[in-house]
Amino acid sequence: MTKREFTPEKEQRFNRSGTGRWILSHTLRYPQFPLGMLLAAVLNNFFYSSVQVNIGRAFDVITAPDWTSGALLAVALTTAGWAAGQGLTGLMRNYAAEFLAQRVERDTRDELYASLLGKSQTFHSRQRIGDIMARATNDVHMLNLMYSPGLMLITDSAMGTVVPLFLVAQLDPRLLLVPGIFLVLLAVTLVDYNRRLNPVSIAMREQFGTMNAGLAESIAGIEVVKANVQERYEWNKFIGNARQFRDYFVEQGVIQARYLPLLMFSLAWAAAFLHGLLLWRAGNLTLGQVISFMGLMNALRFPTFISIFTFNLVQLGIASGSRILEMINTETELDENPAGVARPIRGEVTFEHVSFSYNGTARAGGNGTGTRGAGKAEGGFPVLKDISFTARPGETIAIVGQTGSGKTTLTRLINRIFDVNSGRVLVDGIDVRDWNLESLRSQISTIEQDVFLFSRTLAENIAFGSATATMVQVEQAAQEAQAHEFITGFHNSYQTEVGERGVTLSGGQRQRVAIARAFLTNPRILILDDSTSAIDSATEDQIQRAMRRISSERTTFLITHRLSQIRWADRILVLRRGRLVDQGTHEELLARSPDYCRIFARCE
Ligand SMILES: Nc1ncnc2c1ncn2[C@@H]1O[C@H](COP(=O)(O)OP(=O)(O)OP(=O)(O)O)[C@@H](O)[C@H]1O
Ligand SMILES: [Mg+2]
Repeated sequence: MTKREFTPEKEQRFNRSGTGRWILSHTLRYPQFPLGMLLAAVLNNFFYSSVQVNIGRAFDVITAPDWTSGALLAVALTTAGWAAGQGLTGLMRNYAAEFLAQRVERDTRDELYASLLGKSQTFHSRQRIGDIMARATNDVHMLNLMYSPGLMLITDSAMGTVVPLFLVAQLDPRLLLVPGIFLVLLAVTLVDYNRRLNPVSIAMREQFGTMNAGLAESIAGIEVVKANVQERYEWNKFIGNARQFRDYFVEQGVIQARYLPLLMFSLAWAAAFLHGLLLWRAGNLTLGQVISFMGLMNALRFPTFISIFTFNLVQLGIASGSRILEMINTETELDENPAGVARPIRGEVTFEHVSFSYNGTARAGGNGTGTRGAGKAEGGFPVLKDISFTARPGETIAIVGQTGSGKTTLTRLINRIFDVNSGRVLVDGIDVRDWNLESLRSQISTIEQDVFLFSRTLAENIAFGSATATMVQVEQAAQEAQAHEFITGFHNSYQTEVGERGVTLSGGQRQRVAIARAFLTNPRILILDDSTSAIDSATEDQIQRAMRRISSERTTFLITHRLSQIRWADRILVLRRGRLVDQGTHEELLARSPDYCRIFARCE
């Protein structure tokens, strides 16, 4: 079982030790459908073949010298009965296959989504969104197509081969000669065909992911593309990717076009006819039996023809399945530690000789077992080095330092977006890795300059993280965050849609929405990452007031270079290239720290 940060309540477990086993365990979750499909396919082909046999019998009836219409009627009625049975079981077979396909699609999509929610930030920083989207939509659907029509037709083809042969043997075992040779050749060809098709199927799925990722990235960054007039470059890149995808399609078409079994079948059919006639001439078969035999032989045409597509569908399905499983199985660094400490936080934060690098060795969380994050290279570039300090409950700690000095990184270690490489981060004296992740994170809020808002109403955005909040509470929080005024200025007030389908907010407005959100969740530890913000002084004043209000009564980490904010910090940490070079009040630091001086350009 891989580690994860989130588990849905009613979780279904599947065997994830290999693509085949995983697909099988999904299939067996609904045993009634594959069983029903198999049974219906057997009966369906039995009925179909019986119709062929009966047609031959009808010939024997009418070629007999003293035939009666009663005998012919009996044959006709049984044929009609078989045909009705064929229709009914066909319906059953398709129904079972379709249900199975849709349910597996739903289950795998749920499984993938839950697993994505449980992955660490490190994982998500590495992944390209477009590729994830391709897997979560297109690949999941390919899995559906693998069942229906893919596996449904394969089951049907298998039964559509076995049952007619069984009936042929009943006519005369010698008639098995030609279809037997044909089937051996067909099997050999199919193996070779699939061997050639397989790499193309895999490459095609991969290329689709790459194309999608490129597309998603240029659309997400469309503003940058436009501002830098890079439309042509992006266009060419996309065309290149799309061309490659098309090439794989053509390659697949070429392999399919060289598929010989259909030609082989025509030859086999002619040979079978000859064989049947020879046996008839020798007096071993009646004419009706020859006709039955040819009818049964003809039943093999469909499986032969459809095998061009069905096996390809299954291959694409398996390739897709392994891409989905690969994502689900990707190791993630953190785990949710459900058995960890879960209780109200007082707000003391201690760093003890903390070192950290983004691509270094990550000691995974959970009761300090000390296992390493899988697949990580040793010794990445250290972003934080040997940091030690303590923030008492309720204190406001400002963090200053040049850009890239590690301020944001330091705060990410508190709510375990990342885990330290060495040293410890303690909250209320307990290692953050020994806290229950949900309990820890739900009591820590981060407000960044670049606040992400969902395409939902403003009220929903504010209440994000506190599902039970009433409208009155939402408005109160907005008021405290100095956001009420601009929100009520919108036509739909709190019901205004944000983002894609609604209004877009300015940086300062977003920030206040985030502050309102934090007022509602009422965290014990608050992180305000404001280092790069540049806003007009009227807005700044409002935001300041909002920030000041929210930072009282809780431990606050304040990343800022605004003197007005730094002044109300109890203490200031000065970072330089990942090291904590000094700490103290504004006046103390101005007097003694050259690094601090440099930041405010107050030194000569
Ligand atoms: N996700 C990441 N993966 C790898 N390296 C990162 C990542 N985020 C930041 N870094 C690196 O870590 C270092 C510190 O980054 P950090 O964001 O903590 O700086 P900062 O002090 O917050 O800077 P700023 O004032 O510009 O916000 C930088 O050298 C940066 O390149
Ligand atoms: Mg930063």
